[in-house]
Amino acid sequence: PKVTYELPDGSVHDVEVPCGQSVMDGSVRNNLPGIVAECGGSCSCATCHVFLDEGEFDEPTDEERELLEFAEGARPESRLSCQLILDDSCAGVRVTVPGTNG
Ligand code: FES
Repeated sequence: PKVTYELPDGSVHDVEVPCGQSVMDGSVRNNLPGIVAECGGSCSCATCHVFLDEGEFDEPTDEERELLEFAEGARPESRLSCQLILDDSCAGVRVTVPGTNG
């Protein structure tokens, strides 16, 4: 499925991300800046914080919610992008990458 990333510099990038990969994987594999993903996707760092503008995913786990409390500038639509796994039913996913993940 296609994922649209709005980066901290305001540029917008459309990337085709294979099913089974996460929104974080799609960013890292395409060398887009802003999603640091220090822990490599194991839901323990919060440097993959994004705002989920569009797209349906499972509700965050308690672990993800707790980590998001440490994410700078978190909002109700904040998610950890390594926990947003794409599948065939994901249409029109769009995230905004904050400039505070470093
Ligand atoms: Fe570390 Fe997502 S990559 S929590």
